[in-house]
Amino acid sequence: MRASLRILALCAVFVSAEDGLAGWLRYAPIPDDTILQQGLESLPSVIVSLNSSRVSPVYTAAKELQAGILGVVGENLNVSYETTASEQSSSLIVGTAAAFNDNYGTQVDVSKFAPDGFLLRVKKGSVTIVGQNERGALYGAFEYLSRIARGDFAEVELLSNPDAPIRWVNHWDNLDGSIERGYAGLSIFFGNGLVLPDLTRVAQYARLLASIKINAIVPNNVNANANTLNATNIEGLGRIADVLRPWGIQLGLSLNFASPQLLGGLNTFDPLEPAVISWWSEKTAELYKRVPDLAGFLVKANSEGQPGPLTYNRTLADGANLFAKAVQPYGGIVLFRAFVYNHHADWNVWTNDRANAAVEFFNHLDGKFLDNVVVQIKYGAIDFQVREPANPLFANIPETSKAIELQITQEYLGQQSHFVYIPPLWKEILDFDFRDESKTSLVRDIVAGRRYNNSLGGYAGVVNVGTNTSWLGHHLAMSNLYAYGLLAWDPTLSAEDILDDWTRLTFGFDPDVLKTVSDISLATWPAYEDYSGNLGIQTLTDILYTHFGPNPASQDNNGWGQWTRATQTHIGMDRTVRNGTGNAGQYPHEVAAAFENIETTPDNLILWFHHVPYTHRLKSGKTVIQHFYDAHYDGAQTAQTFPVRWEALRNKIDVQRFEEVLFRLTYQAGHAIVWRDSINNFYHNLSRIDDEHGRVGNHPHRIEAERFNLKGYSLVKADPVETASNFTAVAITAADGRGEAVIKLDDVVSGTYDVAFAYYDVIGGRARYSAFLNEQPLLEWIGNLEDKLGHAFSNKIDGHSATRVTVKKVEIQKGDEIKIVGVKDGVETAALDYVAIVPPGELD
Ligand SMILES: *[C@@H]1O[C@H](CO)[C@@H](O)[C@H](O)[C@H]1NC(C)=O
Ligand SMILES: *[C@@H]1O[C@H](CO)[C@@H](O)[C@H](O)[C@H]1NC(C)=O
Ligand SMILES: *[C@@H]1O[C@H](CO)[C@@H](O)[C@H](O)[C@H]1NC(C)=O
Ligand SMILES: *[C@@H]1O[C@H](CO)[C@@H](O)[C@H](O)[C@H]1NC(C)=O
Ligand SMILES: *[C@@H]1O[C@H](CO)[C@@H](O)[C@H](O)[C@H]1NC(C)=O
Ligand SMILES: *[C@@H]1O[C@H](CO)[C@@H](O)[C@H](O)[C@H]1NC(C)=O
Ligand SMILES: *[C@@H]1O[C@H](CO)[C@@H](O)[C@H](O)[C@H]1NC(C)=O
Ligand SMILES: *[C@@H]1O[C@H](CO)[C@@H](O)[C@H](O)[C@H]1NC(C)=O
Ligand SMILES: *[C@@H]1O[C@H](CO)[C@@H](O)[C@H](O)[C@H]1NC(C)=O
Repeated sequence: MRASLRILALCAVFVSAEDGLAGWLRYAPIPDDTILQQGLESLPSVIVSLNSSRVSPVYTAAKELQAGILGVVGENLNVSYETTASEQSSSLIVGTAAAFNDNYGTQVDVSKFAPDGFLLRVKKGSVTIVGQNERGALYGAFEYLSRIARGDFAEVELLSNPDAPIRWVNHWDNLDGSIERGYAGLSIFFGNGLVLPDLTRVAQYARLLASIKINAIVPNNVNANANTLNATNIEGLGRIADVLRPWGIQLGLSLNFASPQLLGGLNTFDPLEPAVISWWSEKTAELYKRVPDLAGFLVKANSEGQPGPLTYNRTLADGANLFAKAVQPYGGIVLFRAFVYNHHADWNVWTNDRANAAVEFFNHLDGKFLDNVVVQIKYGAIDFQVREPANPLFANIPETSKAIELQITQEYLGQQSHFVYIPPLWKEILDFDFRDESKTSLVRDIVAGRRYNNSLGGYAGVVNVGTNTSWLGHHLAMSNLYAYGLLAWDPTLSAEDILDDWTRLTFGFDPDVLKTVSDISLATWPAYEDYSGNLGIQTLTDILYTHFGPNPASQDNNGWGQWTRATQTHIGMDRTVRNGTGNAGQYPHEVAAAFENIETTPDNLILWFHHVPYTHRLKSGKTVIQHFYDAHYDGAQTAQTFPVRWEALRNKIDVQRFEEVLFRLTYQAGHAIVWRDSINNFYHNLSRIDDEHGRVGNHPHRIEAERFNLKGYSLVKADPVETASNFTAVAITAADGRGEAVIKLDDVVSGTYDVAFAYYDVIGGRARYSAFLNEQPLLEWIGNLEDKLGHAFSNKIDGHSATRVTVKKVEIQKGDEIKIVGVKDGVETAALDYVAIVPPGELD
């Protein structure tokens, strides 16, 4: 019977398509019969659920255990809601500590539990899962399932408590269904101004989140719409909360500070005005009536044009406390974002610094926030850059509870069209030691509330999943979400171990798969930093448009404050106290002294804190400019290995996920070259200092499109210019929308080459390209990355739309002819930058 069930389970798994929807919760059968045998031997024969209410997370846990065990070992266990008098040896019991002790006599020491904690006890043939609360029981069930799904049936006695009480996810979903900084389709929560009628995807998402111990979701954008709080939407939010509740997840809400005016019809939203206070308390009562377990509110105020208390000359604490008082009777909390800064700062003032803003706005308010307010602080002082020092605010408001805001959606990290495994970055921040009062003051201890004895604290992760079955757009990016939850529970876990577990759960046990995913993932952050922006200069992206491709000039000379202060001779923000913005001085004195001094500032933050000549020598011995050149070449080179390594896993991974990942890693490899060349061109032209290795601006294997014989095509400048090779591209201007570019390869030595075509894929059109070698078709492609990457980059010829495709191993004879025929579509002009005829193994 066991065998036949196993076959059934196998069939069930193989017919269901692997489209990413199940994430890491696939419960795939154990591939190894020896392990399977151990699993079957250690398995209990029945699941006992200590709660039969369908809305209880304990009930959910029992159902999940049933499904998981069936998937992993092929055993269909019954769930019983009848408890027996003793803790039976052949049962898997799941419930709260209180229910367990009631039924089995006091056996579990409740005093050892923190809220949401759990005990997992696995003995041969019996499993006991006891939660401090119902949610904790569900966490214990997922912990057990994660173990068996990874083939781990070992006996264990694990008491697990969270490091911090707040483990939230934030979403930047708009009521119209769009998602700010979302890269995987439309909202799973909203559409057409309302909560969606069908919340199936929300339930599937809640399951994923519960398995990584997330306890609250804020579905709506921090740039909040006041209509979120109207009667229709409160009912809709109630439906979301109903879907989340069986998964132990509470609903939180982003608020628009001006709602009393925008929605309530008052003529003010002054937080000290009695009418405003009562409007909020009535609205809060209405919300709690529908959602009695509402977790609380998230507030972005006086930031990037949002309304807030400063509008009425009240303090940010007045604003936060307004909501804190409203939710206090219900046990709710307020997450108040510290992301407050002037985005019209004067660039000409040397001492202006956006990185100073959070401390300037908040440190004098320390002690003025009510106990149920938590200040939510981005990990760095600017905004989710590829590298920032830990935000100094963490060490400036000891009397205030704090949460760290991390970003799973890759706003400044390639927007899931590039893959970056982010946990190593998070770990650097969480392990950062402020040395406040010369005592160990790790960020993770501060946000857990330990360092300064705060009653609350924890983690907020900006996720922005969408309707795409991959959730985040890139299957590999799901490791970031997985790791976020695990680190919020236990920040001492290693980014490498978490990744290995995720890979086993997501792609199976094959050692090549494990090694490859690990190698690629761990190489991504260093590579991305190398090809996007290094030495602490930030992600050198286009900050005035989409934050995706290169545009270093956009950083400076505007009010946004993501400045690099690059001149012809110097680069970097002077954040010293001595001669700069004083930002270094916002850190406790030991750290301040280290950052103040260029000798003791680590190379990877040198340009964050210091304004230096391009010829400044780093501790590595390289000059700043040469480090730039080398890093951009190294990073782009590393990115080339990703699709090659992945390609070797063909047939070891199901087709859909394999192909989708391959497509994106290939895209990333091409776009990494765009980054490399754009940034290097820019600084080469600005500094006039040549690359010691002669690579920058010198591309021996490229034929610039402008040197082709052109019909229907004209020369154009990209914007910014450095995003075209040799500063020029070509685009179709002929009235019939057709163009031809032809070149004879008279300078090529006959042989085998990789042929790369650099072009621009803008949104608003799907131009067609056909490339021929001596009139024989070589490659056809369409400018449709907006469909394939599900992500709108740009409607211009720039660093976002620049991309490249490669045909490998093409036999070319001297004198052969390459022809590219372009057909314009909409605003997409089939623009071309160059063709590179590259000897295999080289990169140009
Ligand atoms: C069972 O679950 C329901 C819903 O979560 C809860 O209200 C009730 O207290 C639980 N019962 C026990 C015995 O834990
Ligand atoms: C499981 O439940 C079914 C129906 O209630 C029952 O027929 C069957 O015997 C049970 N199996 C075991 C192993 O207890
Ligand atoms: C609430 O706002 C939505 C638009 O976001 C609208 O469709 C709906 O009719 C409004 N409901 C009420 C009661 O005003
Ligand atoms: C705001 O408050 C400050 C200090 O209380 C005061 O000096 C200033 O005049 C006020 N500004 C306005 C516009 O009320
Ligand atoms: C921590 O704060 C609590 C009140 O929240 C207080 O009772 C306790 O004494 C404090 N501990 C320390 C070490 O300051
Ligand atoms: C998901 O996105 C991919 C592009 O990455 C697209 O091909 C696919 O159709 C999308 N699927 C869904 C269900 O949205
Ligand atoms: C000091 O600051 C000035 C601007 O006030 C700047 O021009 C100069 O380069 C800085 N000096 C050093 C040594 O960094
Ligand atoms: C090169 O830099 C100079 C200033 O140094 C600037 O005027 C020019 O536009 C730049 N050219 C390109 C192609 O970037
Ligand atoms: C780059 O462009 C310049 C004109 O701006 C031209 O003289 C030069 O030949 C071009 N270089 C290559 C390699 O095409």
